[in-house]
Order: sequence, then C-alpha cells, then structure tokens
Amino acid sequence: MRKAVVTGGKRLHGKVAISGSKNAALPILAATILMHGETTITNVPNLLDIITMIRVLRALGLRAEYFEPDTVKVYSNGNVKHVAPYELVTKMRASFFVIGPILARMGLAKVPLPGGCNIGSRPVDLHIKGLEALGAHVSMEHGFVIVKANKLRGAKIYLDFPSVGATETIMMAATLSEGETIIENAAQEPEIADVAAFLNRGGAKIEGAGKETIRISGVGRLNGNIEYRVMPDRIEACTLMIAGAITKGDIALEGIVEAHIEPVIRKLQDAGVEVIVSGSQVKVKVKDGIKATDVKTMPYPGFPTDAQPQFTSLVSLADGTSVVTETVFENRFMHVHELKRMGADIHIEGQSAIIKGVKKLSGCPVRASDLRAGAALVLAGLAADGETLIDDVERFIERGYENFIGKINSLGGDFREINGNHNQ
Ligand code: EPZ
Repeated sequence: MRKAVVTGGKRLHGKVAISGSKNAALPILAATILMHGETTITNVPNLLDIITMIRVLRALGLRAEYFEPDTVKVYSNGNVKHVAPYELVTKMRASFFVIGPILARMGLAKVPLPGGCNIGSRPVDLHIKGLEALGAHVSMEHGFVIVKANKLRGAKIYLDFPSVGATETIMMAATLSEGETIIENAAQEPEIADVAAFLNRGGAKIEGAGKETIRISGVGRLNGNIEYRVMPDRIEACTLMIAGAITKGDIALEGIVEAHIEPVIRKLQDAGVEVIVSGSQVKVKVKDGIKATDVKTMPYPGFPTDAQPQFTSLVSLADGTSVVTETVFENRFMHVHELKRMGADIHIEGQSAIIKGVKKLSGCPVRASDLRAGAALVLAGLAADGETLIDDVERFIERGYENFIGKINSLGGDFREINGNHNQ
C-alpha cells in the first residue's frame, strides 16, 4: 500500500494537459469484443483500471496490449470465451460491461455480479432488463449472471433511470442484433456518444447517442481495422479546475471540451472563480475568496456526481453556508467524515451535506473511500495548513487519474509519495 503526503499552502499556477477519458476508454475497450480485426485506440490514459480491462480482454482470449504513451491495440478475430473471470470483475466494476459484447458475439455470456461498493449498492438490474428485452434468457447461478440468446432482436427499451452503464451495455449488444433498437431515457453523458462514435467507425449504425433517445439499427458484423482517439477526461478537467480554485491559483488546462465541463464551470463562476475558455483551453483564476454555492448532482447535462466530493472540499472553505445534494448515488458522502477531521464544518441531512465554510482546514492523516473521495481529500490537503497523509494512493487516486501526483507538482503543488519516490 503506497502512501502520499500533500503539503498545503501552495497556490497552483501554470499549465497542464488533460488525459484521455477513463470512463470512455473502459467501455470502448469492452466494445472491441464486437470487432473483427486489429483495433487501435489512442489517447487511452495509463491507469490501473485500463490495465485491468486489458487483462479481462486477454482472459477472454483476445490479444490486447498497451503501448506507451497512450495506445492500446486489440486483435479480435473468431471466437471469444464466454466466461469473464471473477477476480477481475469483482476488482473493477466496469469489467461487467463486457456482458453485452460477449452475448452479442457468442450468444452466451457468464459474468460475475459486480456487487456494491463504497458509493452505493450499484445494482445491474437495468443492464439485465435491457438484455432481456433484446431477447436474452437471463439466469443467476453461483454469483454469476448468465445470459443466452440464439439471436438478439431489436426492441424498444425505456430505462427507469438514465444509467450510464446500462445505456452502454444495451447499445453495445444491440449493434449486432436483428432490426432496430430504441433506448428511451438513455444516459446522455459524453462518454456514451464517444462509445457510439467508436462503434460507428467500425460500421455500427447508432444515432442519437448523447441524447435522450438512441436508435440502433443492427448490423451483421463490425470491422475492427480502425483507429480511434478517446475523448478527453472531463472529470480530470473538473478536478484540476477545482484544484486551481481551492488553492486560489491561476492555472490553464489544455485539451478540454467546453460543453463537457460546462455544469462545473457555471458553479465555479457562481462561487466567484474566474473561468475563461478559449477553444480547447480553460483558465481558472481566483482573485478573492470563494462564495458559498449550492450544488445538486444530476445525470448529464447536470452537475456530475464524479465532481461532487471535490466541490464539497472547495465550498468547505467558502464564505457562508452551501448545500451539496447527491441524487445519483446513495452513499457518496464518505469524504465528508474525513473533511470534518481536517476541520470542515459539515453535517449530513439525508441526501444533502450542509457545509458552513471555515477559514482554514488543517492537514492530518485521512482515508479515501473511492477515487473521487481521494481526489477531494488531495484538494483539501492542497489548501490546508500542514501535511495531509493519504493512504493507498494507488487504489484511490492513481487508479483513475493519470500521473496525478506529477500534474499537481508541475502546477507548483507539493504532493509526494512518502517512500521518497517523488513522481514529477
Ligand atoms: C458510471 O458508472 C461511471 N463509471 C461512474 O464513474 C459515474 O459515477 C456514474 O457512471 C454516474 O455518472 C464508468 O463509466 C466506468 P450508472 P455506472 O449506471 O455506469 C443506479 C468514477 O469515479 N443503477 O449511471 O455504474 C446506480 O445504483 C465513477 O469514475 C441502478 O439502479 O453508473 C446509481 O445510483 C464511479 N440499476 C445510478 O443508477 C442499474 O442497473 C447511476 O449509475 C444501473 C444503475
């Protein structure tokens, strides 16, 4: 277990580039199962989660390899195995996304139920209902979901909640089904449009991805001999924007898509932060203090749940009281307990955190519960007095942020591994 320490009090300044999106790259890698040929995917962030997905693909019999700095090549021809390995799927939830592609390709898939995690129970009922609507027979045995279908058939599917993963599962499975599939109340996150653009490059016929209604006309086969560049990571961009704001810094981020980060830009502006976008660059600057600002997480285009913990850190230093409401996950306030240990004045009422801004936070050892909670605690540490010690950086930060320590340090922050490995 590697530990890192953040020494607070440095204003971030300077410029960094945003990496490729983890949450687009993961389903895109799963989608390579649908392809025939050698697929080249670029702008893939170098992360533990990506390596886990590559291992899942290999376990299924595909040839998959990461090439520095940001390319994955997957060779898929003929059959894939239909059983996804328990150790990998339970290690990373996103590996469940292989269920749709394996089913579409092989007519049979056996994938372990991923189970809950630190942000909630996270069921997969909507994925399963969607596959059933496409004609799959579903059963559960010994902790595995088993889906079978001689032939998937297009269907009209209404999602009770616009789940990102369920939309991706159904979209991937439907690409090779017979006839037309319509997904209503689909998730509209930009990552969905990215996965669809990847599939369309290989010959799929998907329209409306990124909007409420997605139409997929099934095709017989997808051509994998394509090259595709993954979209930028909007959550990394939002996290670093908030890092700039919380340290009263002056930073620029290169390689963003304005529309993707707009909900967070607007809230930062409400909080008194100067945010200026020009083309694919965003500049964040704080002249005065942070103003109290209420936030409610919502599916895209609402404020992203993946930026909620970081924003909570920011407003814990605001002038006045803010209310942060989480509507997407039922248990995404674990960071609050740690922020309180750093001196934040927060109490939780149901789905909301009531945050009375304090003048300062003070560094102490903290424990992250998930990736975004880890990022929130680093951000709080950057603004706090003294040192904030973070356990298990590999699992709670580096799993999802490419070279986070290096990027924070290149912006003038002080974030080090405490075994002396100063990762610049
Ligand atoms: C994706 O998770 C992201 N992960 C999450 O990123 C992100 O927080 C989330 O979308 C919401 O934006 C990846 O893309 C790999 P959901 P996903 O299905 O697909 C409920 C990060 O830190 N639900 O949209 O699992 C569910 O319990 C993370 O990078 C059902 O009830 O999210 C939750 O309350 C973590 N039944 C809500 O929907 C289902 O079958 C949203 O989940 C599926 C979901």
